[in-house]
Order: sequence, then structure tokens, then C-alpha cells
Amino acid sequence: MKWTSSLAGLLSLSTLVSAQSDSESFVDADTGITFQSATNSEGVTYRLALPADASAEKAYDVIIQIVAPVELGWVGWAWGGAMTYNPLTVVWANGNNVVYSSRQAIGYYTPIQYEEAKYTVLKGTSVNATHFKFTAVCAGCASWADFDGNPTTLDGTSQVNFAYAYSTTPVDDPSTGESGFSIHDSVGHWTHDLGAARSDKFSSWVAANKASNATLRRHLRVGRYGY
Ligand code: HEM
Ligand SMILES: *[C@@H]1O[C@H](CO)[C@@H](O)[C@H](O)[C@H]1NC(C)=O
Ligand SMILES: *[C@@H]1O[C@H](CO)[C@@H](O)[C@H](O)[C@H]1NC(C)=O
Repeated sequence: MKWTSSLAGLLSLSTLVSAQSDSESFVDADTGITFQSATNSEGVTYRLALPADASAEKAYDVIIQIVAPVELGWVGWAWGGAMTYNPLTVVWANGNNVVYSSRQAIGYYTPIQYEEAKYTVLKGTSVNATHFKFTAVCAGCASWADFDGNPTTLDGTSQVNFAYAYSTTPVDDPSTGESGFSIHDSVGHWTHDLGAARSDKFSSWVAANKASNATLRRHLRVGRYGY
């Protein structure tokens, strides 16, 4: 297993340059989207689809999907593979709704709201007895300004190291993406094959899954940067 997990530790460099990816192709029945999908040892699944021309040369949107056990308090995705100074996607269930929150950590304490990443929630966002599922287009997840303010874009042609975090403790106010929450029970890293996540169907997948009707809308109660 190339998945690595630690309670709060930094990972050694050797785990960050793993040659093979932890993701595999997966077709999601709810959306018809083919993702590169990786499931960690906590049973949380992280999925990604990219435009065909995604590379490190210019910013691009991504389609993300997260599937998690409904009993978790929150689950997070750190786009730069570490906690601080990169976009964090944090999601949780609130009854039958899925709530997302765009954050950035500027220290090892509760991450602040992050306005540079914009989410458009898609079909494939729902809660059932065991899991919640979040699907969205994100503009600003794959590019950001690093600690020194230098622009960074994930190399969409290659394999990239991400980090996850989760907590079993519910967030303070599950109804809003602006909620406070407490520290993770666990964090870990994985390698995602971005090159294989690219598809010339990207735009049609987005168009086909836009949350444009009342049925879907009722299942979404999103954060400050709403749909
Ligand atoms: C209240 C919220 C949070 C608190 C108080 C918190 C606090 C901490 C602390 C104290 C560490 C240990 C640092 C060390 O010993 O090296 C850590 C590590 C880490 N945290 Fe958080 N964290 C929070 C939320 C998050 C979120 C939302 C994510 C991801 C979405 C995240 C991802 C990570 C990762 C990947 C590490 C490993 C070390 C690193 O990458 O710098 N954390 N966190
Ligand atoms: C609940 O949702 C999860 C994630 O989408 C899915 O894998 C599972 O089959 C669903 N369970 C039922 C009973 O529909
Ligand atoms: C509206 O959303 C519901 C729930 O996702 C879906 O079943 C239905 O097919 C959608 N209808 C249209 C016209 O997109």
C-alpha cells in the first residue's frame, strides 16, 4: 500500500515521490463522469476529472467528487499535499444535505475561509443511510499562490501528491460552510494520476450535471460561496 497515514506527523520525502499512483479509473453512475478515484484506509474516496489540456502551464477547472461515511464529522482535501497555504476543500453532511467549505490554513489552527476557490455543485451530491457524496466543479483548487505569493498550478499531465484529513467530531454548526470545527483525528497522503484524469468530455460532463433543477437544489445547502 502506498497510502500513508499519520496522526499529526510530517511525511518523509520518500513517500512523496512514489512512482505509482493510488488512483484508478472509475465511472460514476450518478453523473456519467469518468474519474480517477482513490479510496483511503478510512473509507473516504477522492475523485478527480480534468480538461484534456490540463497542465502546469495555465490554471484549469477540475471536477471533484468526495464520498465519505456519513458518521464522519468532516473530511478534507488539501490540494498542495500539506495543511498550510494551499486550497482546502472541507465537506460534511447535514441531514439530507451536503455542505462544503472552502478554506486555507495559515497556521496549524482552524483554517480560514478561502475565497479564491469557487465551487459549482453538480448532480451526484446526496446523502443516504451510510454515505454522503459531494460533486462539484472547482475553479481555483488546482492553482493558488504559495506562501511567498508565487503562483502554483498542479501539473495536470503527471502524478500529484495530495493530503487528506478527517474528523469524527461534528462541526460546530453543520448547516453552514462558515462553521468552526476542531482538529482532525487523522491525516494522510496519496498520489493521484492527473494525466489519466484528463478527458475531452470535461465540458460536456459539466454541462450535463449542472444543478439546474429544484429536486437537486433541495439536497444542497452550501456555504458562503453558494451556487
Ligand atoms: C480546526 C482545524 C484544524 C486544526 C486545529 C489542525 C491542526 C493541525 C496540527 C496541530 C497539525 C500538526 C502539525 C505538525 O505537528 O507538524 C496538523 C497537521 C496537518 N493537517 Fe491540520 N488542522 C486542522 C484542519 C485541517 C484541515 C481542514 C486539513 C485538510 C483539509 C488539514 C490537513 C493537515 C495535514 C495534511 C497535516 C500534516 C502536516 C502538514 O501537512 O503540514 N488540517 N494540523
Ligand atoms: C449510499 O451511497 C454510497 C455512496 O454514493 C453508495 O456507494 C451506496 O451504494 C449507497 N447505499 C444505498 C443503500 O443506496
Ligand atoms: C433534476 O435533478 C434530479 C436529482 O438529481 C434528477 O434525477 C433529474 O434527472 C434532474 N432533471 C433534469 C431535467 O436535469
